[in-house]
Amino acid sequence: MHLKKKTAATYYKQTKQILASLSEHIDHSLMHQLVELINYHEYCYYIDNDPVISDKEFDTLFSTLVELETKNPKKVLPDSPTQRVSNSLTSNFESVTHLSPMLSLENSYNKQDIQEFNERIIRLIGSSDRMAFTVEPKYDGGTIALVYENNHLVRAATRGNGEQGDDITQNAKAIRSIPLWADFKSLGIHRAELRGEVLINKNTFTDLNLDRQKKGEQLFANPRNAATGGLRMKDPKMVSQRKLDAFIYQISVAEDESGTDILRDFKSHSDSIDILESLGFKTPEKGIERLFSTSIDEIATFCSSWEEKRESFSFELDGMVIKLDDFNLQEQCGFTSHHPRWAIAFKFKAKQATTKLLAVDFQVGRTGAITPVARLEGVDVGGATITNVSLHNEEFILEKDIRIGDQVIVERAGDVIPYIVKSLSKVRSGEEQPIDFPTQCPSCSSTLEKPIEEAVWRCVNEDCTSKIVGKLIHFVSKDAMNIDGFGEAYVHKFFELGMLKSIRDIYQFDFEKLSTLEGFGAKSVENLREAIDSSRNNPAYRLLYALGIRYVGKTNAKTLIAEVDSLLDFCHMSVEQLCEIHEIGPKVAEQVYKTFQKDDIRQLINDLQKLGVNIHRLESEKKAELDEDNPFNGTTFLFTGTLQQLKRNEAKELVEKIGAKNVSAVSGKLSYLVVGEKAGSKLKKAKALGIHVLSEKEFLAMIKPYLS
Ligand code: IVH
Repeated sequence: MHLKKKTAATYYKQTKQILASLSEHIDHSLMHQLVELINYHEYCYYIDNDPVISDKEFDTLFSTLVELETKNPKKVLPDSPTQRVSNSLTSNFESVTHLSPMLSLENSYNKQDIQEFNERIIRLIGSSDRMAFTVEPKYDGGTIALVYENNHLVRAATRGNGEQGDDITQNAKAIRSIPLWADFKSLGIHRAELRGEVLINKNTFTDLNLDRQKKGEQLFANPRNAATGGLRMKDPKMVSQRKLDAFIYQISVAEDESGTDILRDFKSHSDSIDILESLGFKTPEKGIERLFSTSIDEIATFCSSWEEKRESFSFELDGMVIKLDDFNLQEQCGFTSHHPRWAIAFKFKAKQATTKLLAVDFQVGRTGAITPVARLEGVDVGGATITNVSLHNEEFILEKDIRIGDQVIVERAGDVIPYIVKSLSKVRSGEEQPIDFPTQCPSCSSTLEKPIEEAVWRCVNEDCTSKIVGKLIHFVSKDAMNIDGFGEAYVHKFFELGMLKSIRDIYQFDFEKLSTLEGFGAKSVENLREAIDSSRNNPAYRLLYALGIRYVGKTNAKTLIAEVDSLLDFCHMSVEQLCEIHEIGPKVAEQVYKTFQKDDIRQLINDLQKLGVNIHRLESEKKAELDEDNPFNGTTFLFTGTLQQLKRNEAKELVEKIGAKNVSAVSGKLSYLVVGEKAGSKLKKAKALGIHVLSEKEFLAMIKPYLS
């Protein structure tokens, strides 16, 4: 990194000196230095994923700069980080012409396509020497073109039609991983145009949609839409809040002071990306996301291995891009009007497909919510055959105008459950039928109700069979009481046979009758008995969660349990008392209060206690994560490879017990990576990011003292 060719140590020392001097007199002469330091620390945080000062110290630097700029508005520097988020709203985006046309890429789908691409290049160049390629991710977001002049970011534009795009400079400035200033001049570059992709981290996307759901706003179908939508928002403040990211994958123009094209001076694609990285841009990471290779076999393997691990990457990818590395050779290959002949996209299996919606079933959940489920003509979406997909609720169906017989686009993003993106109304034959939402429960025929302000129709009959079975299935499920061997199908079967009418029956189960049923040998009867027995000793949060109270998920159940000695204590708590619990909001409090005011729940808990089920908080359920002295407060863990002593689930439970969090991807913010045998890319990445790596043994030794 040579933002200003200073070493990290120099930046660090200067930061500490400034922080120490802030209590003394400060004047505007500090502004220059503050801008430089804050830009450096933004780089460490947003691009390197490795901050060297605390958030608080960063905030102090930032607020000091704001204070000085407010007092000296005429002296505000153009690259000041305070200028990232402009106050003015964009009325309409102006159209601008790109410095060079933005083309597309040709697609390939398998190794043979890559081989043919290689052969075409050999023919174009007229040489059969082994050629070097760079392979890097094909990021699935919104394309962006950045123009830097005299080291300053002067323009950012969307792709548009490839010739002209929309000027979104103010919005690009609000993206923290896009440097406002970069030292191109040190390389003799006066004007540069860079190409890249604006993305949203998958976790940020999930949080964004959760937040929108809470506010009753329409959800984004996928991270790509959230990113491209973000680029086109009118208010740069909102862009900043969306926490977008940008990867830069190409220098498309490099000119010296006289306007002469000097791009080829930088020799190759890989050298130019190294340069961008050293200038402070976020680029595909060398050796991990970026491969340099002369072997088609190796290239094909790299592409497939990324296809396999695409879900664990923090951003959406739709393929890999293979680029001939040498700039002179690229020039010899040239372009078609559509794509460069020196590059090709290796497309991952489609996560979208079109199929026919055959029928709609209406399912009754344990809360009585009626969910319409579309039955589809089976279709492969990203390697899985999809035959059913939830249509959520009546509003969803009406909004998307989905009809029986429609051709629909189905998508699967990440690990997310498949969903219908839209119906293709243009190709209707006229025979399609609107979906009639039932007015009576499909299970018990009682009249459905829809509370105002809710999108969901509900069956309110407490004796509805589907609701009872749904509650039982939830009760025994893995995250609830975790009664192994009591799968969904068995719950249905035992219910039909009258062996399981209510939750109590689980703990007074007729094992004798079970042993007379076909398919239940002595071993499986014994296994079920053991699984039920061991669930009697579960931590109390599991029982609270298993009761299926609305809004009480696993996390809330743990938070609530940490406050009481026994589940029965909730019977004596008011809404206000419940609300006082850290992180419990009024909606949750209200539901818990209402539930525990009901006699049948009190009775059920008393009965379960008599049947030997634990209803008391265990020592280990005390509020570790809320404890300020807890050294693991705020730390994150990730497991990779095969663990020897623990199962993954057990390891994750231990992490929760010590008040830390489990995460699913390696990022600079990860506190510990725990490695088992045959750890792969996660370990490599963690090492590259300087993350603390622990063996399973070290992990256990470290946390042992904190497991009371
Ligand atoms: S190179 C001249 N590299 O893919 C073509 N494109 O059809 C230069 N994309 O929307 C494109 N990741 O924004 C290139 N590593 C990558 C890419 C990438 C994503 C997008 C690009 C465009 C599409 C190309």
